[in-house]
Amino acid sequence: MITFSVNGREQRFEGDPDMPLLWYLRDIQGLTGTKFGCGEALCGACTVHADGAPIRSCQTTLGDLAGMAVTTIEGLSPDGMHPVQVAWRELNVAQCGYCQAGQIMSAAALLKDTPHPTDEDIDSAMGGNICRCATYPRIRAAIKKAAGAVQRKTAGTAPVKAGSATK
Ligand code: FES
Ligand code: FES
Repeated sequence: MITFSVNGREQRFEGDPDMPLLWYLRDIQGLTGTKFGCGEALCGACTVHADGAPIRSCQTTLGDLAGMAVTTIEGLSPDGMHPVQVAWRELNVAQCGYCQAGQIMSAAALLKDTPHPTDEDIDSAMGGNICRCATYPRIRAAIKKAAGAVQRKTAGTAPVKAGSATK
């Protein structure tokens, strides 16, 4: 049996350990926000987090995930108010939208580890996420906007009470 978690919920899987995580998320868990693009770790559409790091779920097997915490676009924030999601909406980043969950997950992982990303940092972190609609300029602008929000949030504001609307 493989145990891991998805969006904070414990999973106990007794099937084929070689099943790709993407299959498990979409077909078994019904978490269809994560998309299938290439199936070969080349496009980034299937990006989710494992213990906070971005991974390609099409090429990550359930056997690779024992004991790990997976987060999908559905679990990135409880209310869609992660700074990256807010910036994405404010700048109307998405066109067809197909790549965007993967873009957002990669961007969120970037800002967690690098709150002040340079253009080079953004290029390095986002280079594996392909957008056939070429929304790249808006993606870059939204990452910078979200980085500003993260910085303001951590710049000495009063402690936020648990359950507060600003959490
Ligand atoms: S579907 Fe996984 S990287 Fe393209
Ligand atoms: S918004 Fe269409 S593929 Fe990126």
